[in-house]
Amino acid sequence: MTAFDTIVRGGRVATAADVVTCDIGIKDGRVAALAERLEDAGRIIDAAGKTVTPGGVDGHCHLDQPSTDGTVAADDFLTGTRSAAAGGTTTVIPFALQMRGHSLHEAIEDYHGRAQGKALVDYAFHLIVTDPTPQVTGQELPALIQDGYSSFKIYMTYDDLMLNDGQILDVLAVARRHQGIVMIHAENSDCIGWLTERLEEAGKTEPRYHATSRPRPVEREATHRAITLAELLDVPILIVHVSAREAVREIQRAQARGLKIFGETCPQYLFLTEDDLAAPGFEGAKCICSPPPRDKENQQVIWDGLSNGTFQVFSSDHAPTRYDDPKGKMIRGTKASFRWIPNGIPGIETRLPLLYSEGVGKGRIDLSTFVALTATNAAKIYGLYPRKGTIAVGSDADIVIWDDERELTLTNDMLHHNVDYTPYEGTCLKGWPATVLCRGQVVFEDGEVKGQPGHGEFLPCAQPEKAVPVGRPVTDFQPA
Ligand code: URP
Ligand code: ZN
Ligand code: ZN
Repeated sequence: MTAFDTIVRGGRVATAADVVTCDIGIKDGRVAALAERLEDAGRIIDAAGKTVTPGGVDGHCHLDQPSTDGTVAADDFLTGTRSAAAGGTTTVIPFALQMRGHSLHEAIEDYHGRAQGKALVDYAFHLIVTDPTPQVTGQELPALIQDGYSSFKIYMTYDDLMLNDGQILDVLAVARRHQGIVMIHAENSDCIGWLTERLEEAGKTEPRYHATSRPRPVEREATHRAITLAELLDVPILIVHVSAREAVREIQRAQARGLKIFGETCPQYLFLTEDDLAAPGFEGAKCICSPPPRDKENQQVIWDGLSNGTFQVFSSDHAPTRYDDPKGKMIRGTKASFRWIPNGIPGIETRLPLLYSEGVGKGRIDLSTFVALTATNAAKIYGLYPRKGTIAVGSDADIVIWDDERELTLTNDMLHHNVDYTPYEGTCLKGWPATVLCRGQVVFEDGEVKGQPGHGEFLPCAQPEKAVPVGRPVTDFQPA
């Protein structure tokens, strides 16, 4: 019997706190030792000269999520987690969606069934609350928070999902009383509906008008309102998929006033613009997501928000539908108005490599900030830390060893999702995961997925960790 099952030898090991060169000893799926030199293992993985980071925690992705419009999610728990593993993500937190008229327990049971035996990496669930009846807010949610479902998303837009302000307060009150964390999709629904009608009246229905129908003030107003509702009840919230300067400023203003407002952004707001929605023919549909990608100036604001601490979490918002598919982006044909094109784009595999190459590689963020944004903070906010999101003695051995020198041009063929496109086709990157371990098992190595369906375990989430840094000094913003 060896002291360790595996030793990762001599890598530059990064956590959210620091970067040290050391060996990592792994035993029974956990990190058992960190030291200058370890010996005696069944397998030694040479990481000399390579960067080693914790496996990514994707705090926002949609896998096998049913729709109300007949579209089919392209990725289930097998293809979605296969793709996650190949991109260095070892924990995913998709959503269990409550259909109106149904209980949260039904949603949870359904999702456990969908994940069972399929996941290659570990998973937890957020809830999506669409029907906050007294039974839901009084009984179900409090009990579910205790049972390991401590985060729930609510929508301020989409007719079949959205809550009104009173309902939002009902949900926030539960989060306050029982220490859950509420994630909010902040866009003003009536404004979007009104603008959509005007655009359609004018015959402006191509994919590019999706962006016109959801301009930045629509996101700002809802972000401001969400923060106001959270302030009324003095409860932390997380604003998901922030895209625009105005929303960023609202979050910064709230953080500067001492409110616990977390912010999340996603690759699409760094690497896509509304011009991508204006691609020839129907191609722009490939980049339709909400909020929509903005412009170069707003991309810079998002980069600044990642480096200055406004954002705590960098997620994929992987919401995959196939493009050339009557159950995907083309559900109503290529002449349909943008309002009928399913929202959401794929990105579970490209999330880490994009930020690693363009963020760390180009000096926009440091390595510890990369780790905090892609793993540690999500693990803390969603109650999975320190089991997940770091490399420390006792943590799960979820580890990415990077091939820092690999230069590549992204193409959809190299990805492992079940989607027929990537919005990042042709993007040149430097750095890609060489080896990925999930609880000590190699799940990706030398370009090949090695993980087995069913290896992934369900992770009950504790209540959010309070010590997540929010609103570190912001260099580009002075509160008015
Ligand atoms: O367009 C998006 N983001 N679709 C996915 C669902 C959501 O709102 O996160
Ligand atoms: Zn959303
Ligand atoms: Zn989403």
